[in-house]
Parts: sequence; C-alpha cells; structure tokens
Amino acid sequence: MSQLLKGKTALVTGASRGIGRSIAERLAKEGATVALTYNASKSGAEEAVAAIEQAGGNAFALQADLVDAGSIPALFERLDAELAQRNGNKSFDILVNNAGNSGWGGLSDATPDRWNTMFAVHARAPFFVVQSALGRLSDGGRIINVSSGAGTRPMHVVPIYSMAKASINNLTHSLAMELGPRRITVNAVAPGWIRTDMNAAVRENADMVKAIEADTALGRFGETSDIAAVVAFLASAEGRWVTGQVIEASGGYKL
Ligand SMILES: NC(=O)c1ccc[n+]([C@@H]2O[C@H](COP(=O)([O-])OP(=O)(O)OC[C@H]3O[C@@H](n4cnc5c(N)ncnc54)[C@H](OP(=O)(O)O)[C@@H]3O)[C@@H](O)[C@H]2O)c1
Repeated sequence: MSQLLKGKTALVTGASRGIGRSIAERLAKEGATVALTYNASKSGAEEAVAAIEQAGGNAFALQADLVDAGSIPALFERLDAELAQRNGNKSFDILVNNAGNSGWGGLSDATPDRWNTMFAVHARAPFFVVQSALGRLSDGGRIINVSSGAGTRPMHVVPIYSMAKASINNLTHSLAMELGPRRITVNAVAPGWIRTDMNAAVRENADMVKAIEADTALGRFGETSDIAAVVAFLASAEGRWVTGQVIEASGGYKL
C-alpha cells in the first residue's frame, strides 16, 4: 500500500456505488479517512464502509439528498460531529463532488422539473457543497469535481446532462482562481463511458457497446477504478501543481 494520503481526510459525495464508491475505496487505500455520502442506497453505503474497513481503512457514511440544497448545511453539521469525534477537529483535506443522477432524457421529453432536478444534483449541489466546505477545508487542500466528457463534447441525446456538466467545468475554473491563494487546487475529472448503473441499459445493447469500444482509442469500456486512479493522483501531493483543469479520462473516446 503506497499510503499517498496518510493522515488526510476526504469527503466523497455519492459513494454508495459506482465511481464514487471506487474513489472512496481508493482514497481510503491511500490512507485517508473517508466520509462518504449516499441518498437512497443505505445498504450500498454500508457495504462500501465495510469494504474499506475490511481492507484496513477508515470510513463512515452520511445520508444526504443533494437535490435539496437546503440539506447541505445539515450534512456538514453531521460531518463536523463525526470528524470532531474521530480527529478532534472538523477540518478535512479533500472534497470530491461526484454524486450524480442518471442523465437520460432528450429535448423532446424534457420538462422544467426534470431540468431542475438534473441541474440541482450536477451543478447546484457541488456549488453549495463547496460553499459549506470552505470554512472546513485545509489550506493546501483539494477539490475534485466529477464531470463528464459530455461537458465539453455535448451528447445531443442528453442535452440537459451535457449543459449541467459544462457548468461544473466552468465552476472548476473559477474556483481554482478563487482558492489559489489558499493553495487549494480545484480540478475536474471527466470520465468517458464507465461501467456503472448509470449506463446499465446502454450496456445491454451489444451493438452500442461495440460502437463505443470502436470509438475508444484504448478499445474498451472504462472501469470505475480508472477514474479513481486519476482522482487519487490529483488528491495527492504529486498533483500539487495541477489546478483549474478538466482532465478527460475516457481511454481516448472520439479522438
Ligand atoms: N458512468 C459513466 O459512464 C459516467 C461518465 C461520465 C461521468 N459520470 C459521472 O460520474 C458520477 C458518478 O456516476 P456513476 O456512473 O458512478 O453513477 P451511479 O452508479 O448511478 O451512482 C450515482 C451515485 O450518486 C448518488 N446520487 C444520485 N442522486 C443523488 C441525490 N439526489 N443526492 C445524493 N446523491 C445522489 C447515488 O446515491 P444513492 O445510490 O444512495 O441514491 C450514487 O451513490 C456522476 O457525476 C456522473 O455524471 C459517469
């Protein structure tokens, strides 16, 4: 175990499954104490915590429905209490804004409600999570936003999702400028196609999988650990001179 993050504390949103869970497990493997959030999947969050503890790491889970920005201050109060008990203070070092709801839905079937929900989770929640985090995040800390290749190369079948991910890329740039004086780096990791529940339906279509793999330079679907590896680098001291970047991790999709 390399323990690049020994002594650090991280908050990872949406880590009951998929990419977030993999990020939480990787950061814990590197020695960080990990607070992970979930919404509906309590059992998934418990499994993630158990897996981390079984591997010798430290983690705990907090519930939060991030559609509701009003719930974010209360989430941080529960985080404060847990961290004060574990570490003796409420500061933490690494924030990963990962939580995301499924992005399917095109122009013709869009509704204002669906639009609002998508933006609430993918754009508004990270903004207000950062706002609440700032008084607790250590100088020299890290903010890592999980974006999507669709943020810079919009997918016409998911216009709302693509717009929301463009917002998080934009926020990444402005936060990097804002927080540079505190040596806090702010980056986005933009996955391509990664094997998770979010695209389970796509993966049932063998022709679509073949087309995606043919469009990918490295010739395969991505795994959650491929994204966690990039996040671990950015979170570590090795990533200290990288800020304000949107780093696509897609195996070279549609190059
Ligand atoms: N998979 C891909 O190919 C891909 C590609 C590009 C970008 N991404 C991005 O990567 C991130 C993770 O996606 P994933 O594929 O790992 O998705 P996933 O497997 O569907 O997991 C989504 C996670 O987000 C949480 N979440 C969803 N709605 C929430 C809400 N309202 N409040 C709080 N948490 C909520 C879920 O919590 P519960 O299960 O507890 O409800 C779960 O932990 C997202 O931001 C997504 O846009 C994914």
